[in-house]
Amino acid sequence: MVDRSIYHRPVMTEQVVDLLRPSLRMGVTVDATFGGGGHTRALLAADRKARVLAIDRDPDAAAQAAGLGKRLMFRAADFRRLDAVLEEEEIDEIAGAVFDLGVSSHQLDVGERGFSYHQRGPLDMRMGPDAPLDAEAIVNTWDRDRLAGTFRRYGEEHHAGRIADAIVAARPIADTAELAAVVADAVPARARRTGHPARRTFQAVRIAVNDELGALAEGLDIALRMLRPGGRLVVISYHSLEDRIVKRRFASGSRGCVCPPDLPVCGCGRTAGLVLLTRKALTPGLDEVAANPRSRSARLRAVARSTE
Ligand SMILES: C[S@@+](CC[C@H](N)C(=O)[O-])C[C@H]1O[C@@H](n2cnc3c(N)ncnc32)[C@H](O)[C@@H]1O
Repeated sequence: MVDRSIYHRPVMTEQVVDLLRPSLRMGVTVDATFGGGGHTRALLAADRKARVLAIDRDPDAAAQAAGLGKRLMFRAADFRRLDAVLEEEEIDEIAGAVFDLGVSSHQLDVGERGFSYHQRGPLDMRMGPDAPLDAEAIVNTWDRDRLAGTFRRYGEEHHAGRIADAIVAARPIADTAELAAVVADAVPARARRTGHPARRTFQAVRIAVNDELGALAEGLDIALRMLRPGGRLVVISYHSLEDRIVKRRFASGSRGCVCPPDLPVCGCGRTAGLVLLTRKALTPGLDEVAANPRSRSARLRAVARSTE
């Protein structure tokens, strides 16, 4: 039997369920990042009428959906194709959605997937076989400036230039252990004191391989477009780049009239389509972080589609 607690321990499940509970009977709820299915399982358990369409880009997740019953449909797909999946399933609006971004513990823990700087594995990092790029292409073929820009933008890495120089000098880099060692040697000693020195570089390569920020912006837009009045959307992100996209999208959708304040009557006709359910991002409690340290960077934001 598969041990699901090892595949992935879900983050902020109680908050996800509490926020989505009011919309669970309104129609289908989408779990856009099924992973080990922890959130899906909790949503199905929260209401016996809940129905979930679960999606994951990683075909490994499919096995976790087995035996969850008829109220669950699973599709191995990228959530940026959510509109096509909904059309194929003949669903024309959704009651709710949850996006729990990033990688699963399963992806991090299986060395052969190439996500881990702790294990020797191939330079892969693709979440699913559909990704057109892998880590090997980035690490061994991109030029120095493109590498440095990627580490700076997606890893918020202060030593991006030094790391890019070291990678170009060490080519060809054979695997993740070699990449982690090259990065560790490239950064100054003081940078090795705050966590693993290759953490930011690996994060940047992973985001680039899977075009994670592009997928998030597209997937979020589709989910918001398909959300029925009163429907709810919850997003959990794990770094500031993702959280910024979510925060801005929710803020722009919840802003009504954008006319200058001195205009006597509204000329723009804009009404707020979204209602913020979380003014500030929610974070996991101390107990959850103690029990599951991987939850520590989680930031949860939620909105509802206005009923007016
Ligand atoms: C943090 S895990 C989700 C864990 C899940 N909520 C649970 O309770 O087990 C993130 C999952 O999202 C998937 N994923 C990431 N980007 C995706 C995308 N663009 N489309 C579909 N799935 C994606 C990953 O493959 C991974 O399995």
